[in-house]
Amino acid sequence: MTKATNITWHASTVSKADRRVQNGHGSAVLWFTGLSGSGKSTIANAVSSELYRQGINEYVLDGDNIRHGLNKDLGFSDHDRTENIRRIGEVAKLFVDSGAIVTTAFISPFRTDRDQVREIFEEGEFIEVFVDCPIEECERRDPKQLYAKARRGEIKDFTGIDSPYEAPEHPEVTVRSDLLTVEQAVEQIFEYLKDKNII
Ligand SMILES: Nc1ncnc2c1ncn2[C@@H]1O[C@H](COP(=O)(O)OP(=O)(O)OP(=O)(O)O)[C@@H](O)[C@H]1O
Ligand SMILES: [Mg+2]
Repeated sequence: MTKATNITWHASTVSKADRRVQNGHGSAVLWFTGLSGSGKSTIANAVSSELYRQGINEYVLDGDNIRHGLNKDLGFSDHDRTENIRRIGEVAKLFVDSGAIVTTAFISPFRTDRDQVREIFEEGEFIEVFVDCPIEECERRDPKQLYAKARRGEIKDFTGIDSPYEAPEHPEVTVRSDLLTVEQAVEQIFEYLKDKNII
């Protein structure tokens, strides 16, 4: 629902299609989802680096950075998690409109939240990348020591422990980060992008 009245959509003179032609590649969002420690940030950044190396417009939207700025008014209640994802979806859409391949690295644990983001994109622009990794392995990695804190009761509503993670049912790409190296995961995602003629 839009609160403001007396607002009109102003179409831009340069279109998304124009930008794609000028860039010589498509634009899309690679929406990474998975447990904390599954490897979303690691793989998203590795994908972005390789895109950059190949001269492709890219950008990473990552969890903590967004919570420092755009979403600093939001916490981790169900309502705030939903609003967090909604806003990131809208920002990602702007990047896709600008002609970039944007990667997002948020746990985004709720299926309906991710599906609502999918809805605002055109067909083929929203690429859900499920970073699939058993929680035991995520907890063993525990790069931010968050599982340790959650187990001690110092973090409430931690995904996978006392807040649910709803795995995607039909992700465009599933990356088994416990079985593949980061390089192999990047390769798998590049195969998808090439197969869909995005790059
Ligand atoms: N194949 C792999 N793919 C990705 N990460 C891996 C892999 N093997 C080991 N790792 C390690 O696992 C950790 C993943 O941490 P990362 O911060 O990327 O997770 P995350 O999903 O972004 O978590 P969070 O939701 O807390 O931000 C890193 O320390 C990384 O080096
Ligand atoms: Mg991360």
